[in-house]
Amino acid sequence: MRIARVTLSDRAATGVYADESGPEIEQVAQRCFAEPLEWTRVLLPDDRAALEAALCRLADEAQCPLILTTGGTGPAPRDITPEATRAVLEKELPGFGEIMRLQSYAKVPTAILSRATAGVRGRSLIVNLPGRPRAIGECLPLLVPAIAEALDHIAGFRPALTSPPA
Ligand code: MTE
Repeated sequence: MRIARVTLSDRAATGVYADESGPEIEQVAQRCFAEPLEWTRVLLPDDRAALEAALCRLADEAQCPLILTTGGTGPAPRDITPEATRAVLEKELPGFGEIMRLQSYAKVPTAILSRATAGVRGRSLIVNLPGRPRAIGECLPLLVPAIAEALDHIAGFRPALTSPPA
C-alpha cells in the first residue's frame, strides 16, 4: 500500500532538529498494517499554502490512497494543519479527531489541545496526527480499523491489518 506522510514543523524543516515524527509514523504503521508499505515522505514548515498544495498534489496527482500528517494541530499561532486540511477536503470525517482526543485524554489531559481532523479528497483519505512521536504511537493504532474501512469505501481496497493492531 502506498502511504504519504507529511511532517509539519518549522524547526525540523529548517534543520534545527531532526524530524522524529515522520519516521515514527512509519514504524507504527508497519506494526499495524500486514502489507508492505511504500512511503512518500514530505517535510514542510508550518505554512498553510504549502500544506494545501502538498495535500492536493498527493491526492490528485500522486493518487496516494492514505495521507498521514503529523504536527501543527495545536493552539499555537503557527499551527495551521487542521485549517489547511479542511480547506482541501471534500468530506470531513470528524470521528478520527474525536476518538484520538477521547482516548488520549485518559492518558494525557493535554490531548484535548489537538484539533486534528480527517476526511476524504477524491480517492484519498487524509488523517491529521498530533506532532509528538509518543502521541503517534498512542493514536494511530486506534484509527487503523476505520482507515481500512474508509479505504474500502473510497479507494476500492481494504488493507490487511495485523491482529491486534499495534
Ligand atoms: N495526544 C497524545 N496521545 N499524546 C500527547 O502527548 N500531546 C498534546 C496533543 N495530543 C499529546 C496528544 C499536545 S501537548 C498538543 S499541543 C497537541 O497534541 C497538538 O500537538 P501538535 O501541534 O504537535 O500537533
